[in-house]
Amino acid sequence: MLPIADWNEVFNSNWAKSVVAILGSIGAVGTAVWWVLSRFYRDRFKNLAQQAKSHRSQLADAQKTAQAGHQSLALLQQSHKQQSREIAVGHAKIERALLLLSQAKDKEVRYLQEGQRLLMQRNQLRVELVHHKGLSDTLVSQVTDRDGQLQTVRSELDERRRELDRGERRIRRAIQLDGFLWTAKALQRVPRFRPQSERRQAIISVVNLKGGVGKTTVAANLGATFARRGYRVLFVDLDLQGSLTDLLLPLDKIKMLHANGSLAQHFFDAASVAPTTKLGGFVQSVCRFPDGGSVDLLGASDNLGYTELTLTLRWLLKQGKSDNRFLLRRALHRPAIAKKYDIVIVDCPPFVNISCINALAASDHVVVPVTLDSRAMERVPVLLKRVLGSEKFRKSINCDLKILGIVANRTYREKLTLAETEAWSQLGTRCRDAAGEDVRRFETTIPISNEARDCNDLLEDKPPNSKATLTFAALADEIEQELPRECRRPATTLS
Ligand SMILES: Nc1ncnc2c1ncn2[C@@H]1O[C@H](COP(=O)(O)OP(=O)(O)O)[C@@H](O)[C@H]1O
Ligand SMILES: [Mg+2]
Repeated sequence: MLPIADWNEVFNSNWAKSVVAILGSIGAVGTAVWWVLSRFYRDRFKNLAQQAKSHRSQLADAQKTAQAGHQSLALLQQSHKQQSREIAVGHAKIERALLLLSQAKDKEVRYLQEGQRLLMQRNQLRVELVHHKGLSDTLVSQVTDRDGQLQTVRSELDERRRELDRGERRIRRAIQLDGFLWTAKALQRVPRFRPQSERRQAIISVVNLKGGVGKTTVAANLGATFARRGYRVLFVDLDLQGSLTDLLLPLDKIKMLHANGSLAQHFFDAASVAPTTKLGGFVQSVCRFPDGGSVDLLGASDNLGYTELTLTLRWLLKQGKSDNRFLLRRALHRPAIAKKYDIVIVDCPPFVNISCINALAASDHVVVPVTLDSRAMERVPVLLKRVLGSEKFRKSINCDLKILGIVANRTYREKLTLAETEAWSQLGTRCRDAAGEDVRRFETTIPISNEARDCNDLLEDKPPNSKATLTFAALADEIEQELPRECRRPATTLS
């Protein structure tokens, strides 16, 4: 190291001075440069500071933006998550939609097939439609035809209605007429009553408006008695109870006649439609007697009731060609029947119905059995007054009918008791009052007896000479005397 005096010498030396000058000039230049540079760098620094400031504020902004970005990123993440969930849900929905789509496609296929089937059906239906249209055209023309027919039927129907109204009025009138109904004027042709002398035959109705008085018993016994005497007897059973038929024929035979349609009801049915119906086809042979006598029967069963109703209604409504009150007359008065039978005995029902009227319209005679009790006796004057004795009846039904007589049945003994005699004579008076003239009462009375009740020996050739047989023979005698001579047969066994 140099001492301080040396340093002065150094400093006072030229070189030093030159160095100092140089240094000074360098310093001045340096200062100037420093000043310029400082100025420059100060400005520069300022600029930089400003830039830094602005960068800081930009950084702050950027940080804020970043923060905001973070937040929005978080939000975005959240929304991303949400969207992912939604996407998952969406996926599921899409899956489901795809499934539905495939199902829909299946359905579409099915619908297409169905559609094709329907199309085919439609085509077929079109064909059928064309066919049906043809049919419908035919039907329309048929309907038009039917319309015409309908009009005709309608007018016929109107006519029938008017007929029905007329019928109803007639039925009402008939109901009001009560018992006098049968005496109405005949509308259709009435067969002529051939006189007994011409027919040489007796038609006898056994009648009373009371049941159980012995009509069937008297009819059966009288017929059998006449047959034994040589008469050819035809019985006609017109009581729907068929008691006379039961007496004369066994049950199986009656059933057969019913099945064959050979009973009185069948005859009436046929005759009301065809008035020329012959009775012969309905009559049964019951027995033959050695003396030429015979018993035939037109039987009846309970079905006669239905036929009576039909005949009555048809008569009231004025239907049919013949007047149904005269069917039996037309048949019995035919020469063939008149030749075949000497006596016809008709067993009547206990009331005036169309069967009874048929019997009375055909008959020459009436026999009225009666029991001597008040109930039975009071029906006889009624029968005489309202039917047999009535002028209207005689005019419209039968003016040739004669009352042969009243016969007392089921008396206590052969000879009447005092009470019976009294009743019997009272009946005579009441009958005279009703008929306006004496009405014959037969001498013969029929006592009550088992034989008469059972009718066991009815068709025996030679029955025992029982009391009942003798009684009916006596009654037959009385009746025979009343018959015109040409109708009588010579008396035989029983007389
Ligand atoms: N004289 C008589 N004696 C005994 N019984 C009789 C006599 N007359 C009728 N009967 C009986 O009386 C009942 C009624 O007689 P029926 O002849 O059938 O009467 P209708 O025909 O009037 O109804 C019958 O059982 C019959 O046998
Ligand atoms: Mg009877």
